Amino acid sequence: MDKKVTVIGAGNVGATAAQRLAEKELCDVVLIDIIEGVPQGKALDLAEAAPVEKHDAHLTGSNSYAESANSDIVIITAGIPRKPGMSRDDLISTNAGIVKTVTQQTVEVSPDAVLIIVSNPLDAMCHVAFEASGFPKNRVIGMAGVLDSARFRTFIAMELNVSVENTTAFVLGGHGDTMVPLPRYSTVAGIPITELMHKDRIDAIVDRTANGGAEIVSLLKTGSAFYAPASAAVEMAESILKDKKKILPCATYLEGEYGIQDLFIGVPVKLGSGGVEEVIEITLTEDEKQALEKSADAVRELKAFLKTLA
Ligand code: APR
Repeated sequence: MDKKVTVIGAGNVGATAAQRLAEKELCDVVLIDIIEGVPQGKALDLAEAAPVEKHDAHLTGSNSYAESANSDIVIITAGIPRKPGMSRDDLISTNAGIVKTVTQQTVEVSPDAVLIIVSNPLDAMCHVAFEASGFPKNRVIGMAGVLDSARFRTFIAMELNVSVENTTAFVLGGHGDTMVPLPRYSTVAGIPITELMHKDRIDAIVDRTANGGAEIVSLLKTGSAFYAPASAAVEMAESILKDKKKILPCATYLEGEYGIQDLFIGVPVKLGSGGVEEVIEITLTEDEKQALEKSADAVRELKAFLKTLA
């Protein structure tokens, strides 16, 4: 294939993302992990599925970065996932070290790549990768809003017994309990859900969305969600690889947009071959503004904590 994507971390999210990238025949895939044999084994297993799945994407696995040179996109999933009782923020000290190291290693061989960050706590890990890479802000993007919106859409479709394909949803803010699902901008076939559901049902769905990750963690017990996170990262990668210019909610570095300065947080952006090509500013009500500001404060706290680790 003429495009190449490196996925760092060959665990649950990384291997699933590699599978989806290959099966959609978007690019060749290099899987990298620190554990010897795991990326090689998973890449070979996925390559052996290709004749049946009918694609010609090449998959390779490695413990070093040489194979991944000149990638168009690098998806960073390396790190530890949370266990029951943990918040995403509890991962910060361990994952900050991992994300810093892998970013430094990957940008040495892929200086023109777009980085898609998946490791948690997401918004804080975007700051780590942004600093460690020295990349311009448009080439460091966090995966959170697409996942949170997909969860919101799933629950809307379940509630109204309609096709998920008819649903759209917007979730702004940090990837944590302070995220800001926006019912006014969430629709079924273009009709705002505020016209279709009672407020108490919308509130229940909003709450389930904000706690969507924790719901999966409490069921799995040994790790966190990975099918939907992988799908979300691959939707972002596809928009970049094909220069589709989709508007998707992603964590991006704001410099005054939405009144927020020097902070990665989730807002709608246009994703094309240059990465984030535009930040879309939508009008928010006073309540929504306050909720976004509260979410930004939570990310600022983590950003400040990162400084204490340095
Ligand atoms: N370099 C490369 N890979 C690493 C490194 C490193 N320095 N450190 C850890 N890894 C690898 C692990 O060996 C493991 O294979 O990252 C992988 C993580 O996989 P899982 O434990 O299965 O975790 P996963 O569910 O994929 O989640 C990864 O994404 O959604 C977030 O919160 C989640 O931060 C977590 C990350």
